Amino acid sequence: MSEITVHRLDQRPDLIDRVYEVESSWPDFMGRDPVANALYWQIAGAFPQLCAVATDAEDTVVATARALQFALGAAGRGSLPDGGLDRVTIWAFSDKLAGRSGDTASAVEIMIGQAHRGAGLSHQMVAALRDAARSAGLTRLVAPVRPNAKHQYPRMPMAEYITMVRDDGLPADPWLRVHVRAGGRILRVAQASMVMVGSLAEWRAWTGLPFDQTGDVIVPEALVPVHCDVEQDHAVYVEPNVWVEHDLTRGPAS
Ligand SMILES: CC(C)(COP(=O)(O)OP(=O)(O)OC[C@H]1O[C@@H](n2cnc3c(N)ncnc32)[C@H](O)[C@@H]1OP(=O)(O)O)[C@@H](O)C(=O)NCCC(=O)NCCS
Repeated sequence: MSEITVHRLDQRPDLIDRVYEVESSWPDFMGRDPVANALYWQIAGAFPQLCAVATDAEDTVVATARALQFALGAAGRGSLPDGGLDRVTIWAFSDKLAGRSGDTASAVEIMIGQAHRGAGLSHQMVAALRDAARSAGLTRLVAPVRPNAKHQYPRMPMAEYITMVRDDGLPADPWLRVHVRAGGRILRVAQASMVMVGSLAEWRAWTGLPFDQTGDVIVPEALVPVHCDVEQDHAVYVEPNVWVEHDLTRGPAS
């Protein structure tokens, strides 16, 4: 593999518009969350000091890591929300509009290009988010983590899944393990972190599945079943994520 360099986007603003050069590998239904669709494309430009991009020797973008910041201490908030990623994304952009300064950084997405997976790059990208948040003067980076092997156990409640550990005590899930190795602490489940709703015709188009019976549908790569209602002609996927907290005042040095 060619030499990889990780850049913070406020130090390489020319890369802000290039974050989507890493090919996305999300299944179609994951691109149907209205909050994500309205706001994610603005994250790199709005919070460049908290985002990072990895390039190879030819300056090709091979990985991205995006984060934002929000005021957890603002009135009516106070604790990490059950609404996970969607909720903190809304908080972050409403704070920006209101001129409120953030006190907490939240990771949003890390995407490693297919050709560069399995080589340890994700550890570098998590470290880059931690370093960026610390440099921005924040003491806490949180992450509504999407455990990347949970889809293999779609009927298992997330609260049970996160208790699965290996003999060495680290999480069985690879992506949770990356966060814990980096110094993150698993807090709890964010039950409704993303929500995708559509008519049955839309769900058929998104998944290629029949969606012709009322009840739970197991959709490949979904973390939990999708709820299908034939009579009402709609289906809804409520994705649980896992709140992980990185205390930036201690833990592994960058
Ligand atoms: C999840 C993702 C970020 C991991 O990045 P990566 O660079 O491929 O992973 P790494 O090589 O750093 O390995 C991370 C851990 O996963 C494990 N792993 C890597 N590939 C694996 C595979 N195919 N199967 C099982 N475990 C695997 C590694 O062993 C490592 O665990 P360890 O540190 O205990 O050894 C990457 O696959 C990706 O971009 N996926 C799509 C987007 C996504 O899911 N992002 C995370 C949520 S936002």
